[in-house]
Amino acid sequence: MTLLETRGLSRRYGGVTAVNDVSFRLEQGEIRSIIGPNGAGKTTFVSMICGRIPPSGGAVFFEDHDITNMSPWKRVMRGIVYTFQITSIYPKLTLRENVALAVQRRLTAKPGLHLSLSPDALDAAIDEALSAVGLNNEADRLAGVLPYGHQRLLELAMGLALKPSLLVLDEPTQGLAPGDIQPFCDLIRRTAKTSTILFIEHNLKVVLDLADRITVMDRGAILAEGTPAEIERHPAVQQAYLGD
Ligand SMILES: Nc1ncnc2c1ncn2[C@@H]1O[C@H](COP(=O)(O)OP(=O)(O)OP(=O)(O)O)[C@@H](O)[C@H]1O
Ligand SMILES: [Mg+2]
Repeated sequence: MTLLETRGLSRRYGGVTAVNDVSFRLEQGEIRSIIGPNGAGKTTFVSMICGRIPPSGGAVFFEDHDITNMSPWKRVMRGIVYTFQITSIYPKLTLRENVALAVQRRLTAKPGLHLSLSPDALDAAIDEALSAVGLNNEADRLAGVLPYGHQRLLELAMGLALKPSLLVLDEPTQGLAPGDIQPFCDLIRRTAKTSTILFIEHNLKVVLDLADRITVMDRGAILAEGTPAEIERHPAVQQAYLGD
């Protein structure tokens, strides 16, 4: 079943076309990686999927509904949850408070809905999310004292607490210590049992390890798409991306 589809999605910035007429499909249950050189339009593309940036043209469909003009918060309520390249935690709050705040803030976007989450249910959601990323023993520490890589994991926990049906990650392994990469991959694989995953990633080892399918972007367009084995031997891909 197709979970997400874009049709002719474009975004221009003045004279620059960051994303050019991209039609794309994501099947439910997939782990999909988007790769491509710097400036290829990857972040702009997923930002339009999440509603952070309005498209200049084209449309986005989620579960067959046109969500092109839907606010980011409404998309979260529909199950599209994202973390981005820039970390957005609150350093002077504890990990537990950060996750609670993320849940509350997103839930209150829909009037009345926050009332349906009891304090016990909220606690359980926080514990589950922090355990998933291995930070449950640090729940009462201040987020600001965590190493950067762990702040990224905290952000992921903030997303997981919302039980996403589509989790969108922009360069999630950036800043992770080498020893944290394998646990991160294991976490994504566990998460993929209940969520579809769309992640932008520069670390090809992580991509080839995790992705069911890979979409290669270059100059605002999709250059190639396929399984890791297909992408590795695609001549245009080797030239444009893997070769450099
Ligand atoms: N807010 C903006 N204003 C003007 N130009 C922008 C803006 N955001 C992105 N661009 C331009 O759009 C193009 C695509 O940028 P984007 O950030 O989507 O690329 P990317 O593939 O995510 O790159 P990276 O791998 O470096 O994160 C680039 O040429 C970039 O300079
Ligand atoms: Mg980017």
